[in-house]
Amino acid sequence: MLHPVILAGGTGSRLWPLSRQLNPKQFLKLVDRDRSMLQATLGRLEGVKASDPTIICNDEHRFLAAEQMRQAGCTQSRIILEPMGRNTAPAIALAALEATAGGDDPVLLVLAADHLIADIDAFQQQVAVALPLAEKGKLITFGIVPTCPETGYGYIQRGVEVGEGAFAVSRFVEKPDLKTATEYVASDEYFWNSGMFMFRASRYLEELRKFQPDILNACHSAMSSTTQDMDFVRVDAGAFEVCPEDSVDYAVMEKTKDAAVVPLDAGWSDIGSWSSLWSVSDRDTKRNALSGDVIAVETEDTLVRADHRLVATLGVKDLVVVETKDAVLVAHKDKVQDVKKVVERLKSDS
Ligand code: GDD
Ligand code: MG
Repeated sequence: MLHPVILAGGTGSRLWPLSRQLNPKQFLKLVDRDRSMLQATLGRLEGVKASDPTIICNDEHRFLAAEQMRQAGCTQSRIILEPMGRNTAPAIALAALEATAGGDDPVLLVLAADHLIADIDAFQQQVAVALPLAEKGKLITFGIVPTCPETGYGYIQRGVEVGEGAFAVSRFVEKPDLKTATEYVASDEYFWNSGMFMFRASRYLEELRKFQPDILNACHSAMSSTTQDMDFVRVDAGAFEVCPEDSVDYAVMEKTKDAAVVPLDAGWSDIGSWSSLWSVSDRDTKRNALSGDVIAVETEDTLVRADHRLVATLGVKDLVVVETKDAVLVAHKDKVQDVKKVVERLKSDS
């Protein structure tokens, strides 16, 4: 049976000051006013024949995660807690080891908790297309037709057809530079990697053993002495601490010969920065995305979010203004990838 795994351990620092260390973006109601990004991710599994999802996140977010899972009606879910972030390759390894501990070998559907998918039916259809291939041992990624040379994504070159509606991956390049990304987009041969994957737990672990044995060994030790309280599975901190840090994209997907891509046209976006949030938000006739108590005069292409006070803008264009209880961000829309620099400064000053 399909086993969903939701990665919810990112820091979301580019969405400061709303996304904070103790309340990062996946737990925030960023797009929908009534549910968090994590809850929207859970919602897109409704109707998919699958077991209760496992979620994997940082120990310090355990109550936030548990409460949001409960609100979403996921009462049987397991929550694996990482004592520190080691990126997605180890996180998926922990979930795969957990899933195979009782002798089963389910197909994992690995989802990020920071995506928006507008067309859920289209998403679920492509999950169904991917399943038989994953059952046969393929490592599937879902590919999005690129609309611009975004350098924050992985790129997948399409190879021969390997099943109905699926293609071999000729090349997987994680986060290329702008020149390379521009060539890829122009060639019409590449998809963006959506960051959602499907594979048998054992296949992932085999590939990890081949390419990053140190990660597998550290995760093995961390999972061999877990402590269980309530729904939480707490891995051994000492063993996990020595685990090398790497993402699934670099550690496995760039290297495996068994990758396949299933195209996905479902209104997908990664809500990674304020400009991506602006682009998916409802906008007025001047293309402003305004929320809260805002007066925008002679303002264009701007995102303003006011949570506690009235915010007024006048004669500005291409800005991001985010007001929270204790901090205000004013940034040019072209600079929002660098918001993490503000967060780094805050950390080094404190
Ligand atoms: N449990 C856990 N632990 N989750 C993590 C960790 C970790 O250490 N680090 C990140 N995550 C979660 C994030 O919360 C997010 O849901 C997901 O894993 C992906 O991490 P990101 O940090 O958002 O990755 P990215 O956006 O830079 O890149 C990935 O996604 C792109 C598409 O959105 C890659 O897969 C790219 O190839 C892809 O194009
Ligand atoms: Mg992301």
